[in-house]
Amino acid sequence: MRKKIVAGNWKMNHDLAETEMFLVDLKKQVFPEHVITMIAPPFTSLNHAFKSLREHPVTLIAQNMHQSNNGAFTGEISAKMLKSVGADTVIVGHSERRAIFNEDSALLAEKVNTALENKMTVIFCIGEELQDRKQGNHFDLIKTQLSEGLFHVSNDSWENIIVAYEPVWAIGTGETASPGQAQEMHKLIRETIAENYSKAVADQVSILYGGSVKPDNAAEIFGQPDVDGGLIGGASLQVDNFMKIVNAFNK
Ligand code: PGA
Repeated sequence: MRKKIVAGNWKMNHDLAETEMFLVDLKKQVFPEHVITMIAPPFTSLNHAFKSLREHPVTLIAQNMHQSNNGAFTGEISAKMLKSVGADTVIVGHSERRAIFNEDSALLAEKVNTALENKMTVIFCIGEELQDRKQGNHFDLIKTQLSEGLFHVSNDSWENIIVAYEPVWAIGTGETASPGQAQEMHKLIRETIAENYSKAVADQVSILYGGSVKPDNAAEIFGQPDVDGGLIGGASLQVDNFMKIVNAFNK
């Protein structure tokens, strides 16, 4: 059975005091056993969150990392540093990193390698712009992003890879892919992994949907056969909304 995952990506939100308020509330919640709950606070809150959540079934994610293990890279954070503060999972290739920080596929492939070498789990994000969809390029673009970013890894590495399909036009816009559009793309992603590796590998990979997932649309999106959960931005910043999405798998 594939893992069901709901991951909150806080982006550049919540300082330490706000993180603490979130955690106090989060720790009062009952977590469903069949869903893996994850949160990605900013670097500055990771260790505090790790210590605070020790007794709770919440996985900590880092939002980014550098591709080198150490060195003269002022302002950057390495895989080893992340692991030392309690984050064994990292988001790579978020569309904001690709667009705003010019991270291209070659760089992202390096980050994937470094994360895997450091025995981290990677949440690898892919997604098309509205223009690509309008021009009918969206399927090819997703295949290219998969192949350039991930298809150099070994069969075994897929145990530590989660794919997140996040159409850029749906991120933070309030516009969501329809459940049918999400399923269509997730199915294509799984088939493409199967063609390049094997059906067994493809069948075990969790593929998350991201882009304006909210409490009122989560159940329908998560109900699609190839959607194994969500990467949640805006709606993950507040515990009540976030837990409604985590619990959407119960319906
Ligand atoms: P959103 O962000 O839920 O605010 O659209 C999703 C993401 O960027 O991961």
